[in-house]
Amino acid sequence: MSAAAPRRIWRAPAVRALLLQILAFPLMLATVWLLARAGIRQSLLGVALVQGAWAAALSWRAGLASWWRAIQFLFPPALLLARQAADALALPPAAFLAVFLFMLLLYWSTFRTQVPYYPSGRRVWEAVARQLPADRPLRIIDIGSGLGGLVLDLARRRPDCELSGIELAPLPWLASSLRAKLSGSRARFLRGDYETLNFGNYDVVFAYLSPAAMGGLWRKAAREMRPGSVLLSYEFAIAEREPDRRVVTTDSRKILYIWDF
Ligand SMILES: C[S@@+](CC[C@H](N)C(=O)[O-])C[C@H]1O[C@@H](n2cnc3c(N)ncnc32)[C@H](O)[C@@H]1O
Repeated sequence: MSAAAPRRIWRAPAVRALLLQILAFPLMLATVWLLARAGIRQSLLGVALVQGAWAAALSWRAGLASWWRAIQFLFPPALLLARQAADALALPPAAFLAVFLFMLLLYWSTFRTQVPYYPSGRRVWEAVARQLPADRPLRIIDIGSGLGGLVLDLARRRPDCELSGIELAPLPWLASSLRAKLSGSRARFLRGDYETLNFGNYDVVFAYLSPAAMGGLWRKAAREMRPGSVLLSYEFAIAEREPDRRVVTTDSRKILYIWDF
């Protein structure tokens, strides 16, 4: 982990949101106490709504993005309702643990990277394949390769190329590695953070990330990518630099952006 990593974790909106819920707790207690003194008793749901209201107000004050206010407000009552539903259905606590572990292994550092798992599809893979220079073997990587669909597809289409993917979250990485093994694919899947790679080792870098990641991606690509290499990003543009080409894939809002180095 780099020295900047703990700072990035504390700055992550999800971590700040959690801290604000903790900060809201004594304010909620004080509010419920004052209301009780004034003769207004709260149900458990009322208490959860007061907690949510304080957390939402603090999130607004702290400058979190507007959608966090709704999430912060709804989180405590949603937790309470889930608990009541579990009691009604007699679900064992282990069911919550199992769901939590599944989500953890699927999303892993999404709270920090702000890039969740979401797959691209066949039409995107076809568009990417059409953009690859056909006259020479290439080293191609999907940074954040998910279940490995794009890499496995390109490995089939381009037997002359070296295909790899890198993925941070353990479950998608495991699934992609197993898919490669079971299908006898040459594609390689690494588990790790693409920040640790040198993009200079690749001719083509493909990214399907999120708006939050694009500034950092551009700075890394500009530092490391070699002349003649290509950066592709599905759906998300880079504010700092206009793309050299745009290809419409699934619909007019979802574009494959291309930068030539
Ligand atoms: C939107 S999905 C795209 C999946 C795949 N590339 C596709 O086209 O179907 C983004 C993936 O990037 C992974 N990811 C996010 N940040 C990463 C990082 N810094 N290093 C490696 N993988 C990352 C996420 O875990 C997620 O699986």
